[in-house]
Amino acid sequence: MPIVEEARAKVNLALHVTGRRPDGYHDLDMLVVFADIGDSLTLAASEEDRFLIDGPMAAGLSADSGNLVLRALNGFREMTGWMEPLSIRLTKRLPVASGIGGGSADAAATLRGLCRLHDVPADDPALATLALSLGADVPMCIVSGPARVSGVGERITPSTGQLSFGLLLVNPGVAVSTPQAFRGLERRDNPSLPPLPAFDALRPFTDFLRHQTRNDLEPPARAIAPVIGDVLTALADLPSIRFGRMSGSGATCFGLFDDKTSAERAALKLAREHPDWWIEPAAATF
Ligand code: C5P
Repeated sequence: MPIVEEARAKVNLALHVTGRRPDGYHDLDMLVVFADIGDSLTLAASEEDRFLIDGPMAAGLSADSGNLVLRALNGFREMTGWMEPLSIRLTKRLPVASGIGGGSADAAATLRGLCRLHDVPADDPALATLALSLGADVPMCIVSGPARVSGVGERITPSTGQLSFGLLLVNPGVAVSTPQAFRGLERRDNPSLPPLPAFDALRPFTDFLRHQTRNDLEPPARAIAPVIGDVLTALADLPSIRFGRMSGSGATCFGLFDDKTSAERAALKLAREHPDWWIEPAAATF
């Protein structure tokens, strides 16, 4: 029986760069949510190893050994000694190199699927080490739930998920290199997030995001891809938007809305004005 795992899009509502480590990685303090849209991974026993990529964003990706899905599979095999042939299908819907963790979510979904196939508990410490070795975002994508995340991405404090809202994800079709965005930072010792109050409504939450949080990667990402500024302006002009910002190292930006229906309406309006942008309404919780 094939196993299907969803690789949901990760959105950084806030991303503070608070330091730099001797190995060159950055200490971060982030608020992340996961949208109810993403890629899908289908795993099935097979006569030989197969890896197929389909879906609307398949063209942006090659199925070679550098692909995070195959690196996850190889890492899992090294960890467990398990060598049975496997067929993996990745249905790619999220834009590549776009700040919403697509590749990390694909690797995490592959690991979740392999754990289900082989009865490895999801909290196995060896799995956490493997996940982090594949990428700083992979551990949080294994959890795939709203959280405050710090360290380079390994310290995950889940939030309750009681606050629901609509999300609009907008990508102008420009890939931003994450290392290049980090290299463009003017300061690396910025303040961390303040303590998080409990939020019982969207308004205090968006006030908190607007006044007390940042995405420190936004200025260097905008220098690399100035079109990010156009996306943020177009989002801010939408009548029912409550808050807008860039996610990760860009170029995807997001808007928060009261609910998914409002995000869907906004998506239709924005798509008329920018038919060449990738525009996806979604729902999320924090
Ligand atoms: O871990 P991942 O491969 O997703 O990171 C991509 C790049 O982003 C790293 O090579 C590094 O340049 C940068 N990065 C960083 N600090 C982090 C996460 C990523 O400097 N916490």
